Amino acid sequence: MRCAPLFSTVNTNQMTSSRNSVLLTNCSQILTLRGPAPRRGRALADLGIIKDGALVINNGRIAAVGPRRRIERLPESRRARKFDVRGGVVLPGFVDSHTHLIHATSRAAEYEMRISGATYEEIAHAGGGILNSVRKLRGAPADQLKKHALAHLKQFAAHGTTTVEAKSGYGLDWPSEHKILSLLNEINREQPLEIVPTFLGAHVVPSEFRNRSGKTADAYVDLICRKWLPRVAAENLAEFCDVFCDRGAFSVVQARKIFSAARACGLGLRIHAEQLARTGAARLAVQMHASSADHLEKISASDIHALAKSNVTCTMLPGCCFHLGLPHYGPARQLIDAGAIVALATDFNPGTSPTLSMPMIVSLACTQMRMTPAEAIAATTINAAYSLGRGDRAGSLEVGKFADLAVFDVADYREIPYYFGVNHCSFTMKCGRIIYSRQRS
Ligand code: NIG
Ligand code: FE
Repeated sequence: MRCAPLFSTVNTNQMTSSRNSVLLTNCSQILTLRGPAPRRGRALADLGIIKDGALVINNGRIAAVGPRRRIERLPESRRARKFDVRGGVVLPGFVDSHTHLIHATSRAAEYEMRISGATYEEIAHAGGGILNSVRKLRGAPADQLKKHALAHLKQFAAHGTTTVEAKSGYGLDWPSEHKILSLLNEINREQPLEIVPTFLGAHVVPSEFRNRSGKTADAYVDLICRKWLPRVAAENLAEFCDVFCDRGAFSVVQARKIFSAARACGLGLRIHAEQLARTGAARLAVQMHASSADHLEKISASDIHALAKSNVTCTMLPGCCFHLGLPHYGPARQLIDAGAIVALATDFNPGTSPTLSMPMIVSLACTQMRMTPAEAIAATTINAAYSLGRGDRAGSLEVGKFADLAVFDVADYREIPYYFGVNHCSFTMKCGRIIYSRQRS
C-alpha cells in the first residue's frame, strides 16, 4: 500500500523528523479494535481497549501497542521520538466508506426548499437534485473541482478520517465521469489520505436519455455496460462499481445487468439500496455478493435476515435522514442483533448529507439508531475497512498494520459522540505521519 505525501500546508514540526520511530504515550485509552474482522453481533462492541496505554510506530507501521509501563520499557521506545498525548483517546483513523467527494458546489437552495416543504424526490422531479449537481459539474474545470476536493479532504483529516471511498456519478457522460475518476486517482497520489475510487455512472439517468426517441434508460444502461465499464477497468480508474437502485433511479433488473458487467471487468460491487422505497436492491446485493449495501432505510424483516446471513456489509448513512429531516433512520439495531456486518459512513454529498464529520455520524448512530458508542466506533473503523477490502491493513491498531490513527482530546471514547457537533480531534496520523494537528494551548 502507498504511503502518500503530506498536505502541502500541514505543520510538520512535531513528528515528521528523520527519526523513523515514534512513541505515542500517556493515552487514557487506546481503542485497538484488535481481533478478527469483520465484526458481527456482540463482537461489534469489543473495542480491545488498553487503559493508560502507549504505542510505538516504526516506518509508518505499528511496532508495539500495550500498557504504558510495558511499552515505555521496550528498547525501541527509548530510541523513538516521544509524543505525549496528554491523556487523550487514541483510535484507528476513521474509514469513510461512502462519499461523493467530487462535486462542484453546495445545493443550499434545495435545502431551504425542503425546509419549506418540498421533498427530496419532488425537487429531483423538477430537474433539481442529482441532475442539478450534474449540470454544475459538467461545466466546472478540473482544477476547480480539485481545489474543492483538497479542501474537503483537509476537513476529513481534521475530523480523524484517514481513508475515504469516493464515487463518481455527477458526470453521467463519459468525459465528465472520466474527469472525476481521473481526479480521484490524481488526488490519491498527491495528498495523504487514501482515496478508494468507485464508478457510479448509474447514479440517475442523465437528461439526454430521458424522453428522447431511441434514447432510453435501458440504452444508458447498455452504454455503461458495453463501453464505460470496460474503459474504467482498462484504465484502472476505479476499484468498485456502484448503482443507485431505487425509485426514480435504476431498477433491480438494470442494476443486475450493470453488476454482471462490472464483475466481468473485475470490479467490486456496492449499491445504494432501499433508501426511498423497497425495491429488492438489498436482495440483489446478497445474490451478487456485493461488498456493501448502503442506506437500507426501507428494508423489511426478511431482508434483515438475508443480509445477516450474508457477507454484505450493511452501511448505514444516518447523515442523510438527519439532513433531510426524516423521522425513520435505518434499522441498524435490528441488523446488528440479527448478526449482520454493520458499517457507518458520512455519504458526504451536496444533496442529502453535506457532512464529512465521522464523529457527528457516530453521534447520530447512537442517539437515532440506538447503536452504542462502542458499536459505532467499530462500524466506522474496522467494519468499514473490511467493506473496502482493507480489513487487513486499516481499521485497527495492531502490530504490523499501518499507523493510521486519530487522537481525540477526551478522557473516555464515549465522549466523542457525547459532545455532538463538536470536533475534539487533536491530531490525525496517516502511515505514522501527522496529517492534521490542532494548535495546542
Ligand atoms: O447517497 N441516493 C443517491 N445518492 C446520494 C444523493 C446524491 C444527491 O442528492 O446529490 C445519496 O444520498
Ligand atoms: Fe450516496
